[in-house]
Amino acid sequence: MKPILFSLFEPSTISAALLKTLDLEEGKMTLHRFPDGESGVTILSDVNNREIIVVMSLNQPNEKCLPLIFFAQTARELGATKIGLISPYLAYLRQDKRFHPGEGITSRYFAGLLSASIDWLMTIDPHLHRYHSLDEIYTIPGYVLHATTNIATWIQHHVEKPMLIGPDKESEQWVAQIAKHVNAPYLILEKTRHGDKQVDIHLPDIQQYQSFNPVLVDDIISTARTMATTVTRLKKVGFNTIYGVGVHAIFAEEAYPILLATGITQIVTCNTIPHETNAIDVSDIIIESLIHNKIHC
Ligand code: R5P
Repeated sequence: MKPILFSLFEPSTISAALLKTLDLEEGKMTLHRFPDGESGVTILSDVNNREIIVVMSLNQPNEKCLPLIFFAQTARELGATKIGLISPYLAYLRQDKRFHPGEGITSRYFAGLLSASIDWLMTIDPHLHRYHSLDEIYTIPGYVLHATTNIATWIQHHVEKPMLIGPDKESEQWVAQIAKHVNAPYLILEKTRHGDKQVDIHLPDIQQYQSFNPVLVDDIISTARTMATTVTRLKKVGFNTIYGVGVHAIFAEEAYPILLATGITQIVTCNTIPHETNAIDVSDIIIESLIHNKIHC
């Protein structure tokens, strides 16, 4: 019997592509939020003896995680044999060490919660900085995919004479690869974060690149202060056409208008989190991985 795909929360372009391309049944379920804030889950499809794929990004993780865990436990009680989670954006990875005395290393605790509820996990460009792989904190099989080729293709088709810029050391892993794909120069800047919304960017002398069009590439755009500060610095030294590319469009609170107000030429993101800037479809890499790894379909 074919696996059942459930989209918890909003149906996404990714779940639609999976349903269209692979031999999957669309699962029916409802989530209910009671007036006191508790969540109720009802699975309407017959999941007995069936394998399940859940598709949901884990932005807004605190709101989404408990319903996900309840869903997985309900499905298991109703006879589901295996539950996999495709979370194009995986949250709780940035707190990967105790930065200040007394702080919790939430990446580990979150990984423990998910590992106890699901059987496998697939995600795109997780923020692995001090961890080398998801296996360091997740105890279930993890499939990590990269949007680098998709991003490189977008740049090739839309930007003349690009020059890639990564805002900090961590971004070098994907910026270097994308630059290689598009055969463009790249530069990695130095970032100092003083608080959630306070970021300093050190820009070296880049006059030699004046004839290029900067393309800022980052994995997550959250408060957008990293990207906004970099755009402002670049404008000050004379660059006018500046593109911003993010894998995960979190855009917390007023982040999006703040970034637009810098006068950035264009902002594009992958469709890992639904947002109006989504211009780079990554469903193909998920489909390829499901087929290649012989997961369910
Ligand atoms: C940082 O380590 C990440 O790679 C991003 O640069 C960061 O998450 C961006 O955050 P924000 O948009 O809040 O400046």
